[in-house]
Amino acid sequence: MKRTKILLDADVGIDDAVAMLFLAGRPDAELVAVGSVHGNIPSDLAAANALRLLELCGLDDVPVAIGARRPMAQPLATAEWVHGADGLGNIGHPAARRAPSNESAVEQILRLTAESPGEITIVAVGPLTNLGLALCLDPSLAQRVKSVSVMGGAIVHEGNASPTAEANIWHDPEAAQLVFDAGWPVTMVGLDVTMATRLRKQQLDEIAAMGSTRGDFAHKILQHYLDVYEKSFGTRECPLHDPLAAGIALDPTYIQEELVRDVGVNLTGPTRGATIIDRRPWYEPSGKPLTRVPMRVDSDRFVADLLNALR
Ligand code: RIB
Ligand code: CA
Repeated sequence: MKRTKILLDADVGIDDAVAMLFLAGRPDAELVAVGSVHGNIPSDLAAANALRLLELCGLDDVPVAIGARRPMAQPLATAEWVHGADGLGNIGHPAARRAPSNESAVEQILRLTAESPGEITIVAVGPLTNLGLALCLDPSLAQRVKSVSVMGGAIVHEGNASPTAEANIWHDPEAAQLVFDAGWPVTMVGLDVTMATRLRKQQLDEIAAMGSTRGDFAHKILQHYLDVYEKSFGTRECPLHDPLAAGIALDPTYIQEELVRDVGVNLTGPTRGATIIDRRPWYEPSGKPLTRVPMRVDSDRFVADLLNALR
């Protein structure tokens, strides 16, 4: 089986962790490296969590590099209230035996894509600071990457970090605009599809009953996340933001409806961080780089595949 080489860039909180467990359980994925970034939690803690997850999954040869500790043009803001003080639902999982590598996450992106040009798919499920910095250092990076699957943005759906902005874009809008303008094949997996792709009671019960390492860990860390989402949904269920971006990187046929547009990121005023595309039927391409924006996905098939990977 041909395996997709994945470089994961993540602010390793709870749904990032589930995305890692998903990738670890997929025979068609080869996780080549992880880079951390600020966002849900500080970048150093995100790297420590990536190492914890890799150790749990027996992936001890996958390097982890620490990435950007703050956004490009605004102060650091974190979201421990969603992911727990430790970013993993406060379950007290012990630290990994390994330490992060000596290079930065930005250097790691540039090095690995230079070693394997055209082979690496980047799955970016945190703020896009590392990718933006890497593009600033070496704009030719865009020609060396196979594709980029970003969890971020919202088109019709309301924001989750502000009334109009999705969290990963809100955390570093300047970096996001660099990524959308770089001219590489990008898919923006936003709230329009991730909020509709959820774990509900039946699947949570199935995960609880799996008795597998990945399933047990997912079930433990998800309890904190479910507590948070239960307050807004009124039912004990949660969206699968980062796992869906990882899934689409491996299998774009989950996408059932999409728009292919240039994406603008609002950089000023109260809608800073909002992602904007032209949805008018008479839209004509402006010549700017285009991004795939899924608007509907096969959530049932993806959730079933996620459960299989956790098993
Ligand atoms: O908006 C959801 C995104 O923000 C996810 O990547 C979550 O982990 C947080 O980073
Ligand atoms: Ca994330």
